[in-house]
Amino acid sequence: MATKPPIVIAIYPGSFDPITNGHLDLIERGSKLFDRLIVSILMNGEKAPLFSVEERVDMLREVLSGYSNVEIDHFEGLLVDYAAYRGASVLLRGIRAISDYEKELQMALMNRRLRPEIETLFMMAGEAHSFISSRLVKEIIGLGGNIAGLVPPSVEVRLRKRFNTAKAGGQQTSR
Ligand code: PNS
Repeated sequence: MATKPPIVIAIYPGSFDPITNGHLDLIERGSKLFDRLIVSILMNGEKAPLFSVEERVDMLREVLSGYSNVEIDHFEGLLVDYAAYRGASVLLRGIRAISDYEKELQMALMNRRLRPEIETLFMMAGEAHSFISSRLVKEIIGLGGNIAGLVPPSVEVRLRKRFNTAKAGGQQTSR
């Protein structure tokens, strides 16, 4: 009798402060590869995040409600220990450019040393998203620039509220 193949659970960890269209693209593609994809927010990562963990969970819920095999969670401590606790065998990470590679390689090798049974899987960011980062999005909206198309619309609304800026932007102010 044929045995059932094991269920593959993957963790997509990150700060998600906030989620961008680059993250979303990776989640969409990753959700097709695994039985379950857990998008998990690192708590106490950045010292002064723009959004609280609760706000980031809410944003992820709003954006990811249509994905039946995607779960939202948060964690603290070592990622590999959390992954083992959740029964995950894969850590999913995105690579945008060569500049990401060095940090990601170091983390993947360290995580493998800590728990060799957990595999890190890299996906290349979609070419339309390879220049997007949460840090740049925050910088741009903070300086009055236009972030349409870089983050999901519901996230853009939250960012505009947080920075108290009107839609569109991108205009140079006179000196
Ligand atoms: O979105 P980010 O900031 O690039 O995500 C980084 C993250 C959350 C993947 C990384 O900081 C992490 O795994 N932190 C948990 C602590 C840990 O396990 N550190 C050892 C990594 S080798």
